[in-house]
Amino acid sequence: MLDKIEKAKSAISSASLQDAAQLEAFRLEWLSRKGLLQDLMAGLKDAVPEDRRALGQALNDLKNLAWARFEEAQNSLGSSKSDVDVPDMNLPVQFLSLGSRHPLSIVRQQMVDIFARMGFALADGPEIEDDHHNFSALNFPENHPAREMQDTFFISRNPDVLLRTHTSTVQVRLMEKQKPPIRAIMPGRVYRNEAISARAHCLFHQIEGLYIDRNVGFKDLKQTLYHFVKEMFGPEQKIRFRPSYFPFTEPSAEMDISCLICQGEGCNICKHTGWVEIGGSGMVDPNVLEANGINPEEFTGFAFGMGIERITMLRYGIRDLRLFTENDVRFLRQFSGIS
Ligand code: DAH
Repeated sequence: MLDKIEKAKSAISSASLQDAAQLEAFRLEWLSRKGLLQDLMAGLKDAVPEDRRALGQALNDLKNLAWARFEEAQNSLGSSKSDVDVPDMNLPVQFLSLGSRHPLSIVRQQMVDIFARMGFALADGPEIEDDHHNFSALNFPENHPAREMQDTFFISRNPDVLLRTHTSTVQVRLMEKQKPPIRAIMPGRVYRNEAISARAHCLFHQIEGLYIDRNVGFKDLKQTLYHFVKEMFGPEQKIRFRPSYFPFTEPSAEMDISCLICQGEGCNICKHTGWVEIGGSGMVDPNVLEANGINPEEFTGFAFGMGIERITMLRYGIRDLRLFTENDVRFLRQFSGIS
């Protein structure tokens, strides 16, 4: 009897259980009611009483071994099968957390698109500039108080190297390398030595525009900017031009739109006037054309510059400029899905 048990043990241990058919054959051979394990159990009653205890123990071990092998093979066959065929619908969902574009990037792109539809090309220039491109070529006379309109970060003095205070520098760079007609917009980052508050920052973004050709007049400037405002803020938006001064344009005008944050009622963004300035503009001063090799008798042009932060604040009702640079995801997340 012990001999038979030993043989059964090695047969069970070495049985091949690679697929469902082999598993079923094993179950029938060993584990079923007419299987070999039952036969062996039945033989127990024929054994001499003194041996029964030890044989019973050995048969029990054999049975456990057979079931262990069966269950192990069943599990591994079963689990590989469900991996392939049926996904487990009870697993918790894994959310993909997608990033979002920064509101300033969104609005810059909207502005670029609007001007592109009016035929404006895209141009850019360096953020570290010299005096010539930031001031002299734009008709800021040396030691003239107009230079103080823009508090400048100097990197070095004599020769002056500075962080550009406006994107008007790119106008100069364009005129240097391209003959009219020129029609381009130039978005970019600018720097000013100003205290940071809800309304001002030492680092912000502008979009500059320049259009030079024969017979370009103030009417073209007005029409271009009217169209931009209607596209950006909707056809109901009110616009006004106010006479102003910039060294590089003559005549010059500042452009205001009715405050979208308080709807004209007065708030800290519009300094309680109901109007907010969105940029400066004007006809390119003949001195600027001349300084950059363009004949002012033949060509005229207009230019404008707008703050992207300001446009974004008005577009989305944002009251504090500092939100743009603090990287608070609770703020940034609100712009996901906007393009
Ligand atoms: N550069 C001016 C500024 O930063 C804005 C500006 C005004 C740009 C008039 C222009 C312009 O092109 O014509 O305040």
